[in-house]
Amino acid sequence: MPQVSLIAAARPNFMKVAPLMRALRHQRIDASLIHTGQHYDRQMSGDFFEQLGIPEPDVNLEVGSGSHIYQIAEVMRRLEEVYDRRRPDAVVVVGDVNSTLAATLAAVKLNIPVAHVEAGLRSRDRGMPEEVNRVLVDAVSQWLFVSEPAGLENLRREGVPDDRAFLVGNIMIDTLLAHIEEARQRRVFERYGVRPRQYALLTLHRPSNVDSPERLRGILQAASVVARSMPVLFPIHPRTAQRLQASGLADDSLCNGYTPLPPLGYFDAIGLIDAARLVLTDSGGVQEETTALRVPCLTLRENTERPITITEGSNRLVGCHAQDIEQAISDVLALPERLGNPPPLWDGAAAVRIARILRNVLQ
Ligand code: UD1
Repeated sequence: MPQVSLIAAARPNFMKVAPLMRALRHQRIDASLIHTGQHYDRQMSGDFFEQLGIPEPDVNLEVGSGSHIYQIAEVMRRLEEVYDRRRPDAVVVVGDVNSTLAATLAAVKLNIPVAHVEAGLRSRDRGMPEEVNRVLVDAVSQWLFVSEPAGLENLRREGVPDDRAFLVGNIMIDTLLAHIEEARQRRVFERYGVRPRQYALLTLHRPSNVDSPERLRGILQAASVVARSMPVLFPIHPRTAQRLQASGLADDSLCNGYTPLPPLGYFDAIGLIDAARLVLTDSGGVQEETTALRVPCLTLRENTERPITITEGSNRLVGCHAQDIEQAISDVLALPERLGNPPPLWDGAAAVRIARILRNVLQ
């Protein structure tokens, strides 16, 4: 039986790991789970394991927070011993976080081939830590599993041979489709005192948006414009919470423009996205989830590595200047409540496709 080590690290990884663990085991691949501990709070990690039925990790490296260099170096150092002991036939990594890069480099240095799930995405903005991680991980991975056609194009342009890249669809949407009905039944919006399609949801955590007090203020100003016509729910990521405190914006009158919430568990997050009139976000995963659910989404960035969410989905890039965001908000509120179409292969079966391919190549 082939043996693989699957790496989980941070909140957006867990929705990808859950269907993969199941599909790999179904294909009779012996998959063990290694949590790097990049995210460790119950709200950022444990709740997701529970809600998504992910088994307890076989190993937890408990790396925790620190500078990017510390995180990457420490994950590599701690993984060396784990990889040496286990000698898996392959390492499977997902997404673009620092641990994804560290786990990939450590495997490649020990001559263990790597499969990258969510390969090929490019924002072409090397100022984003995730973009550097994506480019480096894809350059040294053996098998590249891609969620949208632009990803295949990007890999081709970077010289990846066609027989190593596979368009398999979007694994995050596997998890969304598996749980959305249950989330709907929970009617989570009631708990937050809002009515379906009569509120906006805001999420923010990119360093480029939250580390600059000026930008953060501009975005909150735009949110306060939405707040004139509907409540704005704002689940606050730990990084953003720190920045709001440090910049004094937490005490500013702008905070009357939103309802602050703690980071949400998975069911609450997808339930609130699903019933929102409008989502404002800088998250990659939320751009995909809103596209799959056809909920209008304004992305508070200058670029996206997920262009299909714009060409086929419900997403629009609006940058992070208050005036531009305000204009986009009034445009989108004049449009139908549901927009665009879910892309092909965002159908709930990406993990099964990946596991079948891995089964074949690892024979
Ligand atoms: C990381 C990923 C980002 C992903 C995001 C989702 C990188 C480069 N970035 O960013 O791509 O979109 O996760 O959340 O890998 N913290 C806690 N509790 C936790 C984890 C973090 O309080 O469980 C705080 C710590 O103060 C930490 C800060 O949040 O320093 C940032 O965490 P970190 O993992 O470095 O990056 P994220 O901003 O979460």
